Amino acid sequence: MNQDHLPGAPHLARRGADLWLDGVRLADLAAEFGTPLYVYSRNAMRDAATAYQRALAGRPHLLCYAMKANSSLAVLKTFADLGLGFDIVSAGELARVLAAGGDAAKVVFSGVGKRPDEMRLALQAGVHCFNVESPAELDTLSAVATGLGKTAAISLRVNPDVDAQTHPYISTGLKGNKFGVAHDAARAVYRRAATLPGIRVVGIDCHIGSQITTIAPYLNALDRLLDLVEQVEADGIPIAHIDMGGGLGITYTDEVPPAADLLVAQVRARIDARGHGHRTLLMEPGRSLVGNAGVLLTEALVLKPGAEKNFCIVDAAMNDLARPAMYQAWMGIVPCHLRADAPTTWDVVGPVCESGDWLGRDRALAVQPGDVLAVLSAGAYGMAMASNYNTRPRAAEVLVDNGRALLIRRRETVADLFRDELLPD
Ligand code: LLP
Repeated sequence: MNQDHLPGAPHLARRGADLWLDGVRLADLAAEFGTPLYVYSRNAMRDAATAYQRALAGRPHLLCYAMKANSSLAVLKTFADLGLGFDIVSAGELARVLAAGGDAAKVVFSGVGKRPDEMRLALQAGVHCFNVESPAELDTLSAVATGLGKTAAISLRVNPDVDAQTHPYISTGLKGNKFGVAHDAARAVYRRAATLPGIRVVGIDCHIGSQITTIAPYLNALDRLLDLVEQVEADGIPIAHIDMGGGLGITYTDEVPPAADLLVAQVRARIDARGHGHRTLLMEPGRSLVGNAGVLLTEALVLKPGAEKNFCIVDAAMNDLARPAMYQAWMGIVPCHLRADAPTTWDVVGPVCESGDWLGRDRALAVQPGDVLAVLSAGAYGMAMASNYNTRPRAAEVLVDNGRALLIRRRETVADLFRDELLPD
């Protein structure tokens, strides 16, 4: 049968009029599980992870999935089964890793504000490393570790001051950002770290942004990191690993990000060329492991043609998928079953009481109430950023594994939403 693959998503294909994901017709899933519904291809996630693993093979490395992109247990288990570690930013994420069967010894703990109780839990679980972002955090961590009779392995997240050329909200490696220790201050902070009783220096870390579509910013950041590594080691402090963070982009529309293996090959080549090939290489990809594995299915509720704009109101909203409202992100929207009619231009919007509640603007679609639409590339920062705004229960999630559809998260109920609330007298 004739198959057309959609941009960036080899597991998603149009067969005749219908949209299929890995042998499952998406309209059937909407009928069975209801909408809004997140659907993921497990094989797409596996393929994305093994591309990194193949490229890293043959040198010491640790691939840590940045689970903030999609922290559903089934997704974590998929990556844990492949031997991946995890990049976490809270004790909550650590608990999820452990619940999914992940290995704490392969966890790196990132984040600009860690609470002492979170540090304690991570030390007790035996995480691989803390990515420390300030001198004050070092002091607190040292005290917490000493109190437990442990030492905390750390790397400093260095702000290399390079421009990742991405959206300002997801650009993190510039001087003006809240993240990391300034490059020119880092050497002194390492020296101090080496004197603290609860701290053991093991690495260096950076993360310059997200949805990055060129390799140059990574190589610039890497050069800045290697300069520092040389200085820090000259001070007698060994650096075992280099963590390049995450950030590799995906195709939402016409972006052409480098393939993961090309990025890894170039990073490896630069590390080797500068004589640092013996160090362990860590990476923390999030979006590029899950983004194009997922879609959000939503049903068209009401059509409201107007003088200036035509609105197609659907049952998914900014609480289900925040990216368009938050970053003006462009995400593809296609019907699960194509109609023969001529398309009209619609703003696809949700039912939430905010003008910012839109999923796509000026989209050419042939759509009728009751039709199911798929928002594409929704596997990353979709469900993970969902909220209950407007007392809307969060969507259900389905994982498609070789033609089998598995419910991996039940749809929230309204009762779930105020279960923990207390009525005053
Ligand atoms: N490591 C650290 C320390 C991070 O802060 C992040 C993402 C990652 C790794 C993973 O980056 P990725 O490979 O996914 O680009 N909500 C935004 C993206 C925020 C990214 C935050 N940090 C969005 O929907 O575009």
